[in-house]
Amino acid sequence: MSQLEVRDLSYRFPDGTHALQQVSFTVEEGSFTVIAGRNGSGKTILLRILNGLIKPTSGDVRIEGIDAAAHPYEARKKFGLVFQQADSQIVGQTVSRDIAFGLENTGVSKEVLKVRVQQMLEMTGLTPHAHQRPRTLSGGEKRRLTIADVMAVSPGIIALDEPFSGLDYPGVLQVLHQLVQLNRSGHTVILVTHDLEKVLAHADTLILMDQGRIAAQGPVLETLPAAASCGVRMRRVPTAETIRDMTWLND
Ligand SMILES: Nc1ncnc2c1ncn2[C@@H]1O[C@H](COP(=O)(O)OP(=O)(O)O)[C@@H](O)[C@H]1O
Ligand SMILES: [Mg+2]
Repeated sequence: MSQLEVRDLSYRFPDGTHALQQVSFTVEEGSFTVIAGRNGSGKTILLRILNGLIKPTSGDVRIEGIDAAAHPYEARKKFGLVFQQADSQIVGQTVSRDIAFGLENTGVSKEVLKVRVQQMLEMTGLTPHAHQRPRTLSGGEKRRLTIADVMAVSPGIIALDEPFSGLDYPGVLQVLHQLVQLNRSGHTVILVTHDLEKVLAHADTLILMDQGRIAAQGPVLETLPAAASCGVRMRRVPTAETIRDMTWLND
C-alpha cells in the first residue's frame, strides 16, 4: 500500500470548467514528489482536494489507507497543506501562538502543546522569533512559520503550493533547506513549483500536469523530457551526471 493513493480524480466547477480529469498517482512514504505544470493546469485544485478543502466531482483519495471522502477529518490530519499565500494561513498574534493554534483544536494537554511548539520553533529555526508578531517576519520566515504550523500536528505528508513565490534569494534558500531537512528526516514531501531548477536534485518523482490531466509521471530524469510540452521550461535539462549539482544548497 502506498502512503497516498489517488485514483481517477476529477473536478468540474459549477461553470463547467474541467479543472481535473482522471488524475491517478501514488506517493510512497518518505519520498519527495514535485508537481509542475503551467498556470491553470489544476495543481492548486488538486492539493485542495487532497487536503479535504474541496470535494472531488468523482474519484478516490486514500491517505494511509483511509478513504478521504468517508473520513475527511482523519484524512486531513494526515495531509498537511502549506498554502501559497502565507498570510492567509497565519492567525496567531505571535509566532508561538500561531504554531499553538492548530494544535489547540486537537485537544492535546498544555504540557504536550508547549513541548510541541518548542520543537517546531527549533525545527524551523524560529526560536529567536517566538514572541514576535508574524507580520514583522521576512517572507522566508513567514513561509517557515506556515511549515511549522502544518508540521505541528504531525501529518504523514506535507504538501506545499508554490512555496518560493515572492521570496528573495535568502528566503528561497531558507525554505529549500527546510524542505530538504524534512525529507531527510523521513517526512514525505509533495511540492508544487515552477522552479524545477531549484529542487530537482532533491526530488525522486516528478508529476507533470497539463490542462487538468497528468501528462507524465515517474522518476525525475525519465519524466523531464515531457516538461517543455507542459509549459515548464528549463535553461538546461540535466542528465544523471549533472542533476546532483542542480541545487541552490551547498551541503
Ligand atoms: N472558482 C472557479 N471557477 C471556475 N474555474 C476556476 C475557478 N478557480 C479556478 N478555476 C480554473 O481551474 C483550473 C485550475 O486552476 P488551479 O488549480 O488554480 O491551477 P494552477 O494551480 O495549476 O495554476 C484553471 O483553469 C482555473 O481557471
Ligand atoms: Mg496554483
